[in-house]
Amino acid sequence: MRIECGLFVAFALMTAASVGPVCAQAPDLVARGEYLVRAGECFSCHTVPGSRPFAGGRALATPFGTFYSPNITPDRDTGIGNWTDVEFVRALREGVRPDGADYFPVFPYPSFTGISNEDALAIKAYLFSLAPVHQPNRPHQVSFPFSWRFLQKGWKMLFFTEGPFRADPHADAALNRGAYLVTALGHCSECHTPRNVLGAMRKSQWLAGTVDGPDDDPVPNITPDAATGIGDWRVEDIVETLKTGSTPLDSKVKGAMKEVVADSTSHLTDEDRHAIASYLKAQRPIANSVTGEPDEDLPWYERLWAWLVNLFSFA
Ligand code: HEC
Ligand code: HEC
Repeated sequence: MRIECGLFVAFALMTAASVGPVCAQAPDLVARGEYLVRAGECFSCHTVPGSRPFAGGRALATPFGTFYSPNITPDRDTGIGNWTDVEFVRALREGVRPDGADYFPVFPYPSFTGISNEDALAIKAYLFSLAPVHQPNRPHQVSFPFSWRFLQKGWKMLFFTEGPFRADPHADAALNRGAYLVTALGHCSECHTPRNVLGAMRKSQWLAGTVDGPDDDPVPNITPDAATGIGDWRVEDIVETLKTGSTPLDSKVKGAMKEVVADSTSHLTDEDRHAIASYLKAQRPIANSVTGEPDEDLPWYERLWAWLVNLFSFA
């Protein structure tokens, strides 16, 4: 049944038709979509805490201004109830709106581009199985010139590489699963990688942490560097953190990561948590301290230089 549906979906994508009515009814697909929505942590950004799930309106503060997430319930007037499968996949994987305009990368489509079409359609099937919520979207409060949506075209040309995720033929299945969960669906790097002045993730500092995370909190280095990252953690330690939020330092993760654990990683299978942990341990260690205090031993001009390099680096 699932294979037939998948084939049908692939065919429909080629012919730009909608497969909603056929596949949305498959309970398997909806359940799979629910799991993927957990793994993608769609809930926290698209829900005001304590309010109606996925109805949007949550304020997301960035250095460029405040963005408000849209309503992604199947409401036909204020949500995405009228969207076709093709429109949904294109939004998630290419960052393009149904009218052709580009999304701001605060919607982590630069990571979601790695999601497979099949997974994207399962996610849609789950969202469309929920009750529609009528709640109009709030306009973003972003200052000029970052508020100009058409400038996103240039941003994309500079920084966006379209997916989907390609498995490494030299890595085993678990490592590839971990890579998919971390880089595409779980979008861990969106918080754990430092950004340049145009808000693009710095590939050379992949997962090496940043002092300027969400809500201005530092986000730790999760590469296996022994001194500044999680090189001392065992795979089981990472699995435990993703499951319960407890770290080997006998503390609990706070802030944004507490939400990631509560809404996403605590709901995954142990196998998937293990895959994520193994992938993190297999990364290149990068030395980068994010304790928030500038290195007092360095002369001021070197600190200024390091700050400028981070800001203007395109690598
Ligand atoms: C980090 C926060 C964040 C996460 C995580 C996130 N989104 Fe979003 N999403 C946004 C924002 C902000 C926008 C609006 C971007 C814009 O206006 O350019 C958006 C836009 C969208 C849109 C377009 C809606 C419209 O009306 O145009 C869809 C569909 C969507 N998200 C689905 C998802 C799904 C599915 C997931 C999980 C796999 C997800 N989002 C995870 C923040 C997020
Ligand atoms: C929305 C931002 C955000 C996302 C997405 C995110 N993290 Fe985190 N993460 C944080 C923050 C902030 C902390 C620090 C929490 C604290 O101060 O206790 C953290 C801490 C951690 C830690 C503990 C590290 C340490 O040294 O204490 C691990 C491990 C971790 N994250 C792994 C992940 C993985 C794996 C993913 C993807 C599945 C992920 N994170 C996604 C923000 C995020």
